[in-house]
Amino acid sequence: MLDGAIVARGLHVLGVVLWIGGVAFVTTVLLPAVARMKDPEDRVAFFEEIERAFAWQARGTTLLVGLSGFYLVGIWDLWDRFAQVSYFWMHAMVAVWAVFTVMLFVAEPLFLHRWFLTRSKRDPEGTFRLIQRMHRILLAVSLLTVIAAVAGTHGGFLG
Ligand code: HEM
Repeated sequence: MLDGAIVARGLHVLGVVLWIGGVAFVTTVLLPAVARMKDPEDRVAFFEEIERAFAWQARGTTLLVGLSGFYLVGIWDLWDRFAQVSYFWMHAMVAVWAVFTVMLFVAEPLFLHRWFLTRSKRDPEGTFRLIQRMHRILLAVSLLTVIAAVAGTHGGFLG
């Protein structure tokens, strides 16, 4: 029978695939392509322009992952997991989600977008490198979290 938890779990994983898959595409395909195709002075503005469309997809999928995740915690009453070290992967999921939520909903619209553009006028190469480094770090942490969450969900850390 199809119940709320199965639907929520499906939507949770679907959201993760679209969101982290998008981050992987931006990090491993789009950013290197921009570096090859554009002069250093034009890279940041060009990248920000293209990434704007993905930012909306990322906001939607972040919301979906958060809502479905907390729904599962609520209906299965998993809150006590947050007090146990063996469920560190639950903390990791919420931490990754919180970092992206702050970046996408607060930092980027309020100041990050403008800060990158201003900084890139002063130091185009350094600013583009910073953007690349931030994407690589976020992607690596997200992928490790996916591995830990799948292993944890299937009993991998319970000894
Ligand atoms: C508010 C943030 C989040 C909450 C509350 C949350 C909650 C949950 C819960 C309750 C489960 C099911 C655990 C179980 O069956 O024992 C789960 C599974 C999972 N979550 Fe999250 N999650 C969140 C964010 C994330 C993020 C950011 C990622 C990826 C980076 C992620 C990836 C996964 C994966 C891969 C599974 C395993 C699915 C499976 O194998 O069935 N979650 N999450």
